[in-house]
Amino acid sequence: MVDVDERISALDLSLFDRVSTQTYPEDRSSLLLLQRCVRRSGNYVYAEIGSHLGGTLQPHLVDSRCSLIYSIDKRPLALPDEFTGAVYYPGNSTQRMLDGLREAFPDSPVEKIRTFDSDARDLDPKEFSPAPDFCFIDAEHTDKAVFADFGFCLSVCGPDSVIAFHDAATVRGGLARIRRQLTKSGIRFQHFLLPKHVYVILLNGAIGKFAKEIEEASLDESDYMRRASWELLKSKLSRRFPWLQRTWHILTGRGKT
Ligand SMILES: C[S@@+](CC[C@H](N)C(=O)[O-])C[C@H]1O[C@@H](n2cnc3c(N)ncnc32)[C@H](O)[C@@H]1O
Repeated sequence: MVDVDERISALDLSLFDRVSTQTYPEDRSSLLLLQRCVRRSGNYVYAEIGSHLGGTLQPHLVDSRCSLIYSIDKRPLALPDEFTGAVYYPGNSTQRMLDGLREAFPDSPVEKIRTFDSDARDLDPKEFSPAPDFCFIDAEHTDKAVFADFGFCLSVCGPDSVIAFHDAATVRGGLARIRRQLTKSGIRFQHFLLPKHVYVILLNGAIGKFAKEIEEASLDESDYMRRASWELLKSKLSRRFPWLQRTWHILTGRGKT
């Protein structure tokens, strides 16, 4: 049987097969690429804001180089979203996530996951020692929340960390604010857009170690963000004026049966 090291090296998407995740296959490949980079230097600590069922935790759970996982999830039943207005998560709980992970991975150490049923803004950074090397933000998809979640990650992570985000199109306003803030603070960083909707910020020493490999897999960010702005505008207008959506569908032929 092929071992976990080889599967991560090969960006084997079956590493995500046992627990359902709200990511596209291309996102999973991008997340594995980041994991492959981070684990190359040895053991690492992973932090995730927004874990839901644990789908994006699973490749780290089975990775023997991942020594500790912080999973932060406020577990609201409904949450605001820049694109759709609101998203619903019935039955969302940490217990359900842990039970599901234990059942899916009976031989993996679920005890290495430290869970926090909270908004990151309400947590004490002192509880996050050892510091995470790799953070993934996939919680409330609003510009304001993403900016706050990034601020939290920055306050707890190591100086040469990798901080990734899901759904870059939805939170593109928050990402722009984060870039401005980093520039203003004089923190050295580089950013990339990875397929399909993963955004990544490399801090300080992570640039020299990973930028080349990540850049090779990256997409044209300005083109992606331009299309995202247009889609966001369409979705906001359609929510406000439902007749606009019907007219748009008729004009583009999508309203035909
Ligand atoms: C998109 S899901 C995460 C999906 C998961 N990363 C995956 O693909 O397997 C978003 C999660 O963020 C959590 N969440 C929503 N608002 C939050 C907040 N303010 N702080 C922390 N977690 C939050 C929700 O409870 C939900 O479980």
